[in-house]
Amino acid sequence: MTTNTPPFRTVAFSGSLRAGSSNLGLLKLAVRIADEIAPGELQIEWVDWIDQLPWYNPDLETELPEIVVRWRATIVGADAILIGMPEYNFGPSALTKNAIDWLTRPVGAHVMTGKVIALFTSGGKGGGTKVQEALAPILGWFGNTVVTEPAVTIAQGATKIDGEGNTDDADLVATVRAKTEHVLEALRNR
Ligand SMILES: Cc1cc2nc3c(=O)[nH]c(=O)nc-3n(C[C@H](O)[C@H](O)[C@H](O)COP(=O)(O)O)c2cc1C
Repeated sequence: MTTNTPPFRTVAFSGSLRAGSSNLGLLKLAVRIADEIAPGELQIEWVDWIDQLPWYNPDLETELPEIVVRWRATIVGADAILIGMPEYNFGPSALTKNAIDWLTRPVGAHVMTGKVIALFTSGGKGGGTKVQEALAPILGWFGNTVVTEPAVTIAQGATKIDGEGNTDDADLVATVRAKTEHVLEALRNR
């Protein structure tokens, strides 16, 4: 059951497997900020096992692997999803895309709907704007509220924030703070 009163069940996962992933770091920072400005409102479930999902294959829909059942169940009751979304070749990492694909089937009865979703991208020189331009409308189209303002697209983010969310970049912190505030507002106003 989803809710518009806190605590909001929030799933957080990063699409980068790299130890010390800055995309994971952005999520950690957002969660720390949420704890400061709205203690207890976000009840976070960290998912660090999407790499164990098999490649999406429609044939598996007849008898879903246990981990896919777990993944869908994790999402089904979530109010919000925070995604650390690296940009690889102007798109999502294969890991991220595969995890999302598993949530969007079967057509008409999938679990990737009714969520508040926020994307946090630490990219290369361009900051990863293209992956967000591509994914945000698609996630919205599935019936989710995608928190687009402000865009968190951090250029050369791996040099600015570590995997624990430590950073001395004040602009980065301000951007993540504003995004987190908007996520909380979207959840309260659902
Ligand atoms: C295969 C590959 C493709 C990449 N393509 C892009 C890209 O299109 N745009 C971009 O901003 N960064 C690109 N990068 C840089 C990554 O976004 C950056 O290394 C990564 O986001 C760092 O994230 P992490 O610290 O979470 O691992 C690419 C990196 C790799 C490995």
